[in-house]
Amino acid sequence: MHDLGKSTEALHADRDLELNNDIAPPIFQSVTQFAEDEEAFVRMASEPLDDQFYGRYGNRTASRLSQVIAKLEEAETGLLFGSGMGAISTTVLSLIAKGDHVVAQNNHYIGTTKLLKETLPRFGVEVTMVDQVDIEQFARAIRPNTKIIVLETPVNPLLSLTDLEQISSLAKPRGILTLCDNTFATPILQRPTQFDIDLVLHSVTKYIGGHHDLIAGCVVGSQELIERIWAMQLVLGSSPGAFNAWLALRGVRTLDMRVRKQCKTALALANHLNDHPAISRVYYPAMPTHPQYDLVQKQMQGQGGGLLTFELKGGYEAGVQLLQQLDLVQNAASLGGIDSLAIQPAVMWGGSLPPDVLEEQGISPGMIRLSVGLEDIADLIHDFNRALQDANQ
Ligand SMILES: Cc1ncc(COP(=O)(O)O)c(C=O)c1O
Repeated sequence: MHDLGKSTEALHADRDLELNNDIAPPIFQSVTQFAEDEEAFVRMASEPLDDQFYGRYGNRTASRLSQVIAKLEEAETGLLFGSGMGAISTTVLSLIAKGDHVVAQNNHYIGTTKLLKETLPRFGVEVTMVDQVDIEQFARAIRPNTKIIVLETPVNPLLSLTDLEQISSLAKPRGILTLCDNTFATPILQRPTQFDIDLVLHSVTKYIGGHHDLIAGCVVGSQELIERIWAMQLVLGSSPGAFNAWLALRGVRTLDMRVRKQCKTALALANHLNDHPAISRVYYPAMPTHPQYDLVQKQMQGQGGGLLTFELKGGYEAGVQLLQQLDLVQNAASLGGIDSLAIQPAVMWGGSLPPDVLEEQGISPGMIRLSVGLEDIADLIHDFNRALQDANQ
């Protein structure tokens, strides 16, 4: 059979779920469904992943979206959550128990870092965090009781990569499960299942939703693992809302087009900023100066994604000034949507992370992380030129 492209897949993956002749999918807002008889009730209440029993157990709009994401990620099936952190915490907690050991990266999204560093040890689970670029550190960290390896690539703030193939070839022969947060790359640029990663996670809030108007998360993988995670979702209550799922279903239809434009704009802007006298360094995976440029070719189709990080020569104050001066780029948390957003990591995380941890994470005072939206590149360049000039006066 002819392999469909990702744009076609995002539009047609769920077409066989159509109940009638509608082109746009319905929202199933009801949180409970009646049973025809006792036998049907027992079946509805006990069937794993049943999306027609009670809202916390499943919802048809949510499972429709998770099927589309599973198809894009080349996984058997998927499960939707109320947030990206809901997906990550529920998945991790469903796979480990007291006495187990987890290997993870030094750098993760801050919520994941807190789960790994603060929450898991409270429940008797040991976590070893290693430098994501050094496969030897992963190999040395593995113990007989290691159950899972948690990965995220690319990752904040320096947009460093983890070699997924190398990690799965370490984990598979030892029976260790691998999880990868694929939020930044999206299935358009990177499909961890192709490198034998077991579970792929997303903050759907970001690129998949794409419009800064919903919060959701997702995990995809084998039927067996997703059923295990679903059982934990029932306990933790990290289930999604139907309307958020519906919005994300609309967002995912244009994911391919948005991500490709964002990659093009981000590369052009990264090159422009790299030549700007007010900027000392730019971090962008698709630039030949990125230390893992070869891995970007192998793992991300040579594309850098929609995020870039740069350092201002003027340090902390210059960063504060720049974010004040930009017109088209808002100083706001989150990323991956149609509007360009920027943050100064030292400001955003300075309140919750001590200075030594900031430094350990590679966060410098004059660093800015930019999430490129869908604005025209010429306008963004114009805005940066003006704002950098004003900020330097
Ligand atoms: C890479 C990554 N993973 C997970 C999350 C958590 O997602 P959410 O905010 O949807 O809970 C975020 C949020 O910024 C993120 O950037």
